[in-house]
Amino acid sequence: MSDEPKRALIEKSFRGLPIFKNLSDPHLLQLSSDFIIQRIKKGKIVFYQSDTSTDLYIVLEGAVRASLLGEDGVELILTVFNNGDFFGEMSLLDGKPRSATIIANEDSMLGVLKRERFLRAIKNDPVIAIDLLSAVVQRLRMADNMIESLAFLDVNERLLNLLLQIAAAKGDKDENGFLRIKKLTHKEMASHTGSSREAITKVIKVLAFRKILKEEEGHFLISPDAKNMIGMSV
Ligand code: CMP
Repeated sequence: MSDEPKRALIEKSFRGLPIFKNLSDPHLLQLSSDFIIQRIKKGKIVFYQSDTSTDLYIVLEGAVRASLLGEDGVELILTVFNNGDFFGEMSLLDGKPRSATIIANEDSMLGVLKRERFLRAIKNDPVIAIDLLSAVVQRLRMADNMIESLAFLDVNERLLNLLLQIAAAKGDKDENGFLRIKKLTHKEMASHTGSSREAITKVIKVLAFRKILKEEEGHFLISPDAKNMIGMSV
């Protein structure tokens, strides 16, 4: 893509972003021209946990995930950033090493902004700082949910929780009221729930036996009763 359409895409994306929603047109234009574009292929690393970079990133196309990687190759997915989401704000704000590894979930296009440019934008429009804070607090709430789920729910419940969250965000319903979502691999489900592939395989079997989860070509179907199973032994 040549520079002009790229600029237009950045400007258009920025108008819809919660953290830049209160920017005046001239400031938004200035800020979008400060971003550079980075394309990244599915499976490639944007940066590793402990790296010392401080740029801010925005997903313009595609999706990336923030993960913690264990030495044994085990991955815990903290969150997925989709179109319009930003990441990298923690090192940008405190100057410390990156708190997580960012991996491309699909071929993606990212906008990258240098720390100094972002700080200048905050000086010009302090309202950005308030909107950024509100987004960070929302992430903290989600992190609390994750801690709660790791501490108090078993793998069955964590998996149901995950599938129901995905269904709420981007699922639809079949004629029997079952929630339909795109199938995930056992490895993906293990990485999202802090468990192993073997544990997920067992859970899927139990859920299928109890008719809480059905599998069809490319999709999972989740029973409307599934939410009542969280908080009690499934
Ligand atoms: P930073 O530490 O600069 O680089 C990794 C990024 O992953 C981090 O900024 C956040 O943008 C994001 N991140 C880290 N931990 C979490 C979390 N628990 N929930 C959501 N995003 C996170």
